[in-house]
Amino acid sequence: RKGRGKPAKGLRFSPVEPNTTDAVTVPEGYGQNVVIRWGEPILRGAPDFDPARQTAKAQAGQFGYNNDFLTLLPLRSERGRQLLVANHEYTNEELMFAGYDPKKPTREQAEIAWAAHGLSVVAVQEERRTGALRPVPRHALNRRITATTPFEFTGPAAGSALLRTSADPRGRRVLGTLNNCAGGTTPWGTVLSGEENFNQYFANAEKVTDADRAATLKRYGVVGGASQRRWEDFDDRFDLVKEPNEVHRFGWVIEVDPYDPDSTPRKHTALGRFKHEAAQPRLTRDGRAVVYMGDDERFDYFYKFVSKKAMRRGTSADVRRHNLSLLDEGTLYVARLSGDSPRDQIDGGGTLPEDGEFDGTGRWIPLASGDRSFVKGMTAEEVYVFTRLAADKAGATKMDRPEDIEPSPRTGRVYVALTNNTDRGKDGKAAPDEANPRNANKHGQVLEFAERGDDPASLRFTWRLFLVCGDPEDPATYFGGFPKDQVSPISCPDNVTFDAYGNLWISTDGNALGSHDGLFGVATSGPRRGEVRQFLTVPAGAETCGPLVQERRVLVAVQHPGESDGASVENPASAWPDGPGKYVRPAVVAAWPKDGSSVGR
Ligand code: FEO
Ligand code: CA
Ligand code: CA
Ligand code: CA
Repeated sequence: RKGRGKPAKGLRFSPVEPNTTDAVTVPEGYGQNVVIRWGEPILRGAPDFDPARQTAKAQAGQFGYNNDFLTLLPLRSERGRQLLVANHEYTNEELMFAGYDPKKPTREQAEIAWAAHGLSVVAVQEERRTGALRPVPRHALNRRITATTPFEFTGPAAGSALLRTSADPRGRRVLGTLNNCAGGTTPWGTVLSGEENFNQYFANAEKVTDADRAATLKRYGVVGGASQRRWEDFDDRFDLVKEPNEVHRFGWVIEVDPYDPDSTPRKHTALGRFKHEAAQPRLTRDGRAVVYMGDDERFDYFYKFVSKKAMRRGTSADVRRHNLSLLDEGTLYVARLSGDSPRDQIDGGGTLPEDGEFDGTGRWIPLASGDRSFVKGMTAEEVYVFTRLAADKAGATKMDRPEDIEPSPRTGRVYVALTNNTDRGKDGKAAPDEANPRNANKHGQVLEFAERGDDPASLRFTWRLFLVCGDPEDPATYFGGFPKDQVSPISCPDNVTFDAYGNLWISTDGNALGSHDGLFGVATSGPRRGEVRQFLTVPAGAETCGPLVQERRVLVAVQHPGESDGASVENPASAWPDGPGKYVRPAVVAAWPKDGSSVGR
């Protein structure tokens, strides 16, 4: 019967049991190492980590905080080396500074936090005979991008009046990137990264009197008085009363060229402004770039962008310049989904409808293309800067928190992690529908869709739920039709990636089953489709991010270990990675088969 025999190639390891161990646990027969931790020096002149005497200057040359997205790029002329790019989403000041007073941060603390945000580019060296990776400090390509690094705006809204500030009257140059969550690696060798919960950095929305402005701020979750970190005390641009447009300069997809450490990174206005979880590119058959994007908020949407121009092959400066302009011009779409089962069969409890599947069809609704708006009552610039409002008007489908999205390199089918939505079905909130079928959805689901004709630029798609997450013993869960007594429990899917065999790997954030977050692999095709197998778990308080699966190793970012209500440097919720009495530190971990074979073989 189904479920007998060996797991899919690439997933042949002994699954890790769900647990609450304050450690990274990996399958039997696997080794692991901490590749790089918060505070390790990467740039020339940066000092060793000394948390009690940390400075902003030191931090600007060291690996940042809360690593999320990871990618490894080839370094062809350097044997055994790759270039690691990591996002640093946010800072946990309570775990960074002993005696931290959230009501009265010091300027130095704020500036350390600015320098701990952003991205790190750092060369890593493979250790011989294991899958371990070690940083190569002072490598010529090592780079830190922080909350104060200059960026340029590109695309149709660059220079818009909505982006102009007193520091930048032309609306074309902005300092820094914030809350970089997940991202993507482009086929032309650059890195995309999503600015997600930028709302938390801006103060005094409650003092904004203009009703239209207040409404747009609220739609983006920009509310209240003092901001969480009080950066407005040290830089006016974080005060909405003093600099009304600065907030419009965050919430974009950025692009970084890691091979050119002197390049100015970009913010792409053509890809719209929302709480960008990630940005995953692929190519059409004629070489145009398509980028899938999720907006991580309860009842928000997922999107795609299709470029006008096609990618060119080659490595000349001309080709590189051309490819770096691909995301400047194109069309931005939002997804609208319909179910194929009668509405009354969607009971909010997760019972499968009579046709045996949560499935249906979808359309990509155009929002804007270049200077042209497809949304009544909004200019194209307004569509780009207030994309959520445009998508509201376009009748997009309200999803259960769209996080990462990734097309399978094997089948072309695309996977959307919908992490959870405990507000689904509540009074005054959207009711369950076939794509988001559970009320008070604690565990999330993974949606699979196929573009019509496998054309990434198509305006139509078909979809079905691949996983309805939770405890397999809960009748309201579904694992692609695989026998549920043989799968690992999974809850709150967040980041996704593929291995070379076409298996989907899913990291989780917020596991609502009582054990720690982790990383899972699952076959998407063949007789093992839906067989979820847990590969690792992370320490207390952490979420699992940035998964990457190479032939020899699995890489994860352990984000915010020790985070918990009331936690502090003096009383952290975790002793990872360096043991009791040491600062808890977000870090990147590699895990590999000790016998020198390939992962999952
Ligand atoms: Fe930063 Fe949606 O996770
Ligand atoms: Ca159906
Ligand atoms: Ca995430
Ligand atoms: Ca998350």
